[in-house]
Amino acid sequence: MSLRYLQNFPSHYWKSYRSMRDSFYECPLEYDIGDEAFQKMVVDVLPKQESLKALGIGSGQGKLDCIHMGRMLTRVSRIDNTVVEPSLEAVEVYKSLLSGDLSDRVTTSWYQETFQQYQKRRESSTGDTEKFHFISVVHSLYYTGNDGSSIGYLIDLLEENGVLFIAIQNDESGFIKFFRKAVESYGPRYNNTTRGYTTSQVVKLLNADGRVNYNVVKNRHKIDVTACFEADSSKGSLVLDFLTHVVDFTSTFSKNVLQSLLDYLKSPDCSEILSDGRIILHLKWDAIIITKK
Ligand SMILES: C[S@@+](CC[C@H](N)C(=O)[O-])C[C@H]1O[C@@H](n2cnc3c(N)ncnc32)[C@H](O)[C@@H]1O
Repeated sequence: MSLRYLQNFPSHYWKSYRSMRDSFYECPLEYDIGDEAFQKMVVDVLPKQESLKALGIGSGQGKLDCIHMGRMLTRVSRIDNTVVEPSLEAVEVYKSLLSGDLSDRVTTSWYQETFQQYQKRRESSTGDTEKFHFISVVHSLYYTGNDGSSIGYLIDLLEENGVLFIAIQNDESGFIKFFRKAVESYGPRYNNTTRGYTTSQVVKLLNADGRVNYNVVKNRHKIDVTACFEADSSKGSLVLDFLTHVVDFTSTFSKNVLQSLLDYLKSPDCSEILSDGRIILHLKWDAIIITKK
């Protein structure tokens, strides 16, 4: 049976991403570094001017982008916002969040497409030289190809003194360890470019690029994955699809291989088991906050 990679099915992606987020356990609902750190590392660094240009790659439902823009609007009067997001469902939610101050002071251009389509379209239109003061790539760099060139392209798109904000999992993340174990189990059947990009790879690319300075802020989220162990749980099956990035993951393996993967998911490498039996997966991620030298 050939594998159906989650990111090629935006509607299913959206459903399974929602199920994963609904399973967050005792942690913030967004991948946010908090007011104080964002003020110091982003808002205070941005150029002092009337308006800013922002770009979101894989913004999803846009909740975090809205939080970020609200903070930036304490410094500037207006934001020209560009959103590149392939999921129609996510874009609809994002649009509904732009109310009040955000609808008065933010103008948004919507591109319901992938980063690769956006890049290709810009490169084929010779007059498009627009650059941005703030670019946000929150847990979406994984989908931009694995040859590393997307980092250089994103830096090209940054205005001087602009900030590139990347959120990405680090190598110690239980989520990444489980994802890699699943990929390993597929063997050559797995020929997708999404292979679980992590902080260490991004940092290597940034050092090699040489045009930027960056800071890394460590964070942690917890996901209650108990439903993944319940037979016939539709929620559990959607969460597993997200954790492996394969549509209908449970039917892609023999019973034995599936069982050994589930055993690994609840092992201390990935998760902790609470005294009431719930299984909590550790997602360790970093915000990499990058400025152009
Ligand atoms: C893990 S979600 C993160 C969403 C959002 N940034 C957040 O903080 O909740 C990744 C997002 O990337 C989007 N995505 C998937 N493939 C993409 C691609 N090739 N280019 C741009 N975005 C993509 C998905 O639709 C999804 O909204």
